[in-house]
Amino acid sequence: MPHNTPDTIIGRQENDPASHDNSPIRVNAHNEWDPLEEVVVGIIDNARFPRKDHVLRTDIALETGQPIHGDIEMPDIPEFVIEETKEDLNIFAGEMEKMGITVHRPDAMDTQRKVASPYWETEQFYNYCPRDVLMTVGDRIIESANIFPSRHFEAYSYRDLLLRCLEGGSRWIAAPKPRLRAVDCNTDSQVKTILNTVDPAFDAANVIKAGKDLFYLISSSGNEAGLKWLRSILRDEYRVHACPGLYTGMHIDTTITLLRPGLVLVNPERVNEDNLPEPLKKWDVIYAPEMEEYAYSNLPPLCSAWLGLNLFMINPGLAVVDAHQKALIKLLEKHKIDVLPLRLRHGSPLGGGFHCVTLDIRRKGGKEDYFK
Ligand code: ARG
Repeated sequence: MPHNTPDTIIGRQENDPASHDNSPIRVNAHNEWDPLEEVVVGIIDNARFPRKDHVLRTDIALETGQPIHGDIEMPDIPEFVIEETKEDLNIFAGEMEKMGITVHRPDAMDTQRKVASPYWETEQFYNYCPRDVLMTVGDRIIESANIFPSRHFEAYSYRDLLLRCLEGGSRWIAAPKPRLRAVDCNTDSQVKTILNTVDPAFDAANVIKAGKDLFYLISSSGNEAGLKWLRSILRDEYRVHACPGLYTGMHIDTTITLLRPGLVLVNPERVNEDNLPEPLKKWDVIYAPEMEEYAYSNLPPLCSAWLGLNLFMINPGLAVVDAHQKALIKLLEKHKIDVLPLRLRHGSPLGGGFHCVTLDIRRKGGKEDYFK
């Protein structure tokens, strides 16, 4: 397939009947647990580690000790990993459809086509984690200010969906794109944070929501300026709590997992009584047990062993959890949460579990204050 003709498209084509569905979609998502009605599940088609993304290079350098200069040295993703992940994602999507939940999938993109801005040029990455690029807050759907150049244009894979959300009355907002110049990226391997920029920069997965209260992780994938921007959009309708000093890496959803009103699961290596965000001190806190570690390929992990905390609530009494995490499943059941155990065999090298590969479009229920 040629990569440089502007009209080369992959994914859904015009003659695909699915692309003609432009019926309106209503966005309504206030928290992590209300009964789910409509959701997006990521895809793995065309996934590829972008070799030239200088921000991802720093991330990989910090996590794996790879040299900070030169191209990223990541192996190609083997075909069996792609195939098994397709299978796992389709099973997950199918289970939700059986429950009557509407499931959307992004359009695949041509990841090998180079993308550029005035400041960089790179290949693209994947559409595995809708959670990282889009955020729903009430009736708003927000494109985040992603920190990796290779993910700068990823939200285009959701353009048909976003148009339908707009049609359904949603407020569609895109955060300003950070410049991500070479100087905005730390190249000192002693430094434990990736970006050093004045521009707002955050991945949507740095945020979790509980009605009127949102929690924003200050870390390598979300800076203070990003928090300021989000607050400027949500104004006094929401309290956006800064969560510093918990975890310097990517995303909040292996650190704090909101289960239902009054119950939160936390990462015992990162969270303690002192650094737990103030409002959550009123809730019951359960500390995650040790995680079961496993690998189905030789690919290096792209995340920590704590990916098991990256579970997805279907409703306040039902969680989709990594089937390998027996101790965690037991603990949840003890707290009266049923578990649907499923697999994402390659979640670790691909950098995402069940929360990452989803985006809740609509849940029942409205905006409540859970911390009165
Ligand atoms: N960086 C996290 C960890 O290593 C994994 C976060 C994955 N989340 C996501 N939304 N992609 O624990």
